[in-house]
Amino acid sequence: MNLKSKFVFAAVVAALSVGAAYAQQPMVIKFSHVVAEATPKGQAALKFKELAEKLLPGKVTVQVFPSSQLFGDAKEMEAVLLGDVQFIAPSLSKFDRYTKKVQLFDLPFLFDDIEAVDRFQHSAQGKELLDSMVSKGIKGLGYWHNGMKQLSSDKDQLKRPEDVKGLKFRIQASDVLEAQFRALGANPQKMNFSEVYQALQTGVVDGQENTWSNIYSQKFYEVQKTIAKTNHGVIDYMVITNAKWWNGLPADVRKGLAQAMDEATAYGNGVANEFNERDRKRILEAGKAKVQDLSKDDVAAWRKAMAPVWKKFEGEIGSDLIQAALKANK
Ligand code: LMR
Repeated sequence: MNLKSKFVFAAVVAALSVGAAYAQQPMVIKFSHVVAEATPKGQAALKFKELAEKLLPGKVTVQVFPSSQLFGDAKEMEAVLLGDVQFIAPSLSKFDRYTKKVQLFDLPFLFDDIEAVDRFQHSAQGKELLDSMVSKGIKGLGYWHNGMKQLSSDKDQLKRPEDVKGLKFRIQASDVLEAQFRALGANPQKMNFSEVYQALQTGVVDGQENTWSNIYSQKFYEVQKTIAKTNHGVIDYMVITNAKWWNGLPADVRKGLAQAMDEATAYGNGVANEFNERDRKRILEAGKAKVQDLSKDDVAAWRKAMAPVWKKFEGEIGSDLIQAALKANK
């Protein structure tokens, strides 16, 4: 072999080995979310990573980014569509730009408890909603639980709807939630989750609504005077991915990820109630915010004040879907 062919041979060998090494690199998959790690969603995301890497050894690496570190509320959907992140799990309140159907979950006092939410999500109509955004390029892979919402404010009294008249409330980016606070005579303000603590602390808003787990892990209870046990709605999630990316995955990788997702879903949904109970107790123990019990009569007053919201959104959501959800209450 002359010098020139030796050189060509060496270059070909080098290129082939770089190619082989490249082919062996695991696929990096990013999962971004906005809550703390010690929450139902935070733990389910970590469980998904553990299972996916175990089921697909050397084939995938899953990186989980909690607390809006990679993308916050405003950017995460676009990031999925652009392929900058592969999985996110936004609250069901944050989809109304993509589907009006999922607004169902925001109707106040629709579900009695998280068990009813779970029953609906497992029904044929609930499962159909996972595919309601496919035409927009979004595929839903499952529902993850958080829990029922409680209402909090920086005032001493939070027992009846009159107590929130004129107050400013932070809401998620949802038109239904906006209508809910307007029905109460309050002023709703859409805001990213990562900005809520500061907005409460500085008085930009007077109150907010969230689960015990978010109220605890974001320390909202430190900057609110009262938390009323309203259980007036639900915060749950849809885990979504880019439909084109998902369909283009090698079949074995897609199968492994789907299995990891199913098992992580079962795990997260199994611990969600426990996490919320634990965090409710921690808030009580901290003694910073007063936790307000409500009588049946108080709850009925909140229910009545929020009722006009149903009429307003019935057309967009569909009364058949509302009926199916109601059937899940026992
Ligand atoms: C919120 O924005 O209040 C929550 O939905 C955040 C979350 O993902 O639980």
